[in-house]
Amino acid sequence: MDLARTRDELPELIGRVALVPTMGALHEGHRSLIRLAHKHADHVVVSVFVNPLQFGPNEDFSRYPRTFEQDLAACEAEGVAAVFAPSVEEMYPSPLQVTVSSGTMGTIVEGAVRPGHFDGVLTVVLKLFNLVRPDVALFGQKDAQQLAVIRRMVADLNVPVEIVGAPTLREDDGLAMSSRNVYLSADERVRALALSRALRAGEAERAPSAVLRAARAVLAGEGIEPDYLVLVDPATFTEVDDKYYGTAVLAVAARIGTTRLIDNVLLEL
Ligand code: PAJ
Repeated sequence: MDLARTRDELPELIGRVALVPTMGALHEGHRSLIRLAHKHADHVVVSVFVNPLQFGPNEDFSRYPRTFEQDLAACEAEGVAAVFAPSVEEMYPSPLQVTVSSGTMGTIVEGAVRPGHFDGVLTVVLKLFNLVRPDVALFGQKDAQQLAVIRRMVADLNVPVEIVGAPTLREDDGLAMSSRNVYLSADERVRALALSRALRAGEAERAPSAVLRAARAVLAGEGIEPDYLVLVDPATFTEVDDKYYGTAVLAVAARIGTTRLIDNVLLEL
């Protein structure tokens, strides 16, 4: 396995290349993306880069978990061809003048709580695409709005890469795997289960209003006031009404103690 710290160290790979962008602190969810990537390409490249551009001033950039040696071992075990782990200086040698805007889609739902977040994500993802030049790139459904804005960037800007979405991996008790789960105390870890439980309660209903009511009731039962609980069109993240039919995303974000968690499920209306 190659380890590239700079763009010049990136190997020339012959055949189809898949990119799995990550911020490291790799868990089974990331590993499932790598495994799926092997099915779409001859070589898998994993990027490990905690992107300062997508963190707000009061967010966890400096304390974001960094487990680089374990990440390398996980990539090696998953048969990854190359890990691209640039420094902040390598990615942003000078302050950016030109960046990618996620438009209105980046200002709603998660984007309303984290202003500028999706612009930061799109800017780094486009840079990673241009550096690694993958044929296909994989992103988790766990970050459903991120997946949606990336698909939209690729469509709107004719970016020559295929985007593949991958299902959310969960712990046995339902908690969606996340690098941020390590922040949870034992008590918070139990409280956090209300998120996936709320989504399952919503899933059991049919009409959008009933879906939201059922999910909200579970959160209220745990005394959780979410940042948002919405039922949205997976492509645009605009809210659906009782006349909508097709696939929708039931998405939730909430603070458990000081840890902000997000989760979602796809459901058929
Ligand atoms: P990160 O949070 O490290 O996630 C990397 C990829 O793993 C994302 O596509 C995310 O959706 C996926 N992922 C996270 N948890 C998952 C789970 N439980 N099951 C399946 N997939 C999961 O998302 C980012 O990094 C960054 O925003 C990035 C795209 C790398 C840009 O900086």
